[in-house]
Amino acid sequence: MKILITGGAGFIGSNLVEKLVENNEVVVLDNLSGGNENFIEPFLDKIEFYEIDLADKIDDYFSGVEEVWHLAANPSVKDSSPETFFKDLKITKNVLEACRKNKVKRILFTSSSTVYGDAVKNTPENYETKPISFYGATKLACESLISTYCSLYKIQGFIFRLANIIGKNSTHGVIYDFVNKLLKSNSELEILGDGKQTKSYLSVEDCISGMLIARKKTKDLINIRCEATMPPEDVCIFNLGNKDWINVKEIAEIVVEEMINAGLIKGKPKFRFTGGLEGRGWEGDVKEMLLNISKLEKLDFKPKYSSGEGVKEAAKETTTRFKNKSF
Ligand SMILES: NC(=O)c1ccc[n+]([C@@H]2O[C@H](COP(=O)([O-])OP(=O)(O)OC[C@H]3O[C@@H](n4cnc5c(N)ncnc54)[C@H](O)[C@@H]3O)[C@@H](O)[C@H]2O)c1
Repeated sequence: MKILITGGAGFIGSNLVEKLVENNEVVVLDNLSGGNENFIEPFLDKIEFYEIDLADKIDDYFSGVEEVWHLAANPSVKDSSPETFFKDLKITKNVLEACRKNKVKRILFTSSSTVYGDAVKNTPENYETKPISFYGATKLACESLISTYCSLYKIQGFIFRLANIIGKNSTHGVIYDFVNKLLKSNSELEILGDGKQTKSYLSVEDCISGMLIARKKTKDLINIRCEATMPPEDVCIFNLGNKDWINVKEIAEIVVEEMINAGLIKGKPKFRFTGGLEGRGWEGDVKEMLLNISKLEKLDFKPKYSSGEGVKEAAKETTTRFKNKSF
């Protein structure tokens, strides 16, 4: 099958390329604004890679493509500029137009848990969506646009509302941030908020396996039923996260331990919490996030790593990368 991945040189994208290249013809479109060509370097002789901005003319790259994974976006939840994110809505429209013109069969989109805003613990997919950040608002707008295109032009749509994804090739997020800060000053670690922000973390390996399970088990059924009890749908929405959660202070402790083990820092630093904002890390930060993943579990999805285990593995991988200066 010919598959096109937008943002394929990024963190999640490069891990997805590694998996899909085994059995498919893969095309990657990425402007390298956040990605890194080194992440896909081992596959460059097997894939087609184009360094291009998705806001430009992209229709021709979609010729003969059956399935599109749309991952390209600014992944920084902390960014408070609406303009940055409106660009992500525009590129999503461009991708959908290219899908329509080239009769693409299926689109899979990486949305986010932030579409819910401050929500109840164990948030199900049918919980109300009230985002409190421009990032979350834009993801929700993209979801709506995808839903409309899928309905009008009979494209199958998969929307994955991801928890915090961690692991190989990550270049942003709390673990990366802590490693970076500790390398600059190892006597003190600044922690945004009160350290009690508690969220679910999923390894990138589990994230990709969850998305592939959803696609495999529902792609032939999607215009019939996403769930046995549901009416027919064009688009299936899946929460994708872990069964448990972990707080930011616990993550800091794991990262410190791994950096000491790797010989990158000598002793334990003092933790300095920025506080304020009701303990949130930044304006628009959701303080607690745990998604209900029972819809995916019914398709036999089971995360291999808990949040804590995933954080430990990711901290190890990130410190090794810094140690080897392989960024
Ligand atoms: N990492 C997470 O925890 C997480 C959680 C929820 C959702 N997501 C979503 O998953 C997707 C992938 O995230 P990631 O963590 O791998 O981020 P990333 O920054 O590593 O990957 C995004 C890629 O998109 C590319 N890109 C951005 N704008 C582009 C444009 N205009 N044209 C072409 N390429 C462009 C970047 O260069 C980068 O390679 C994003 O949509 C993100 O919002 C990520």
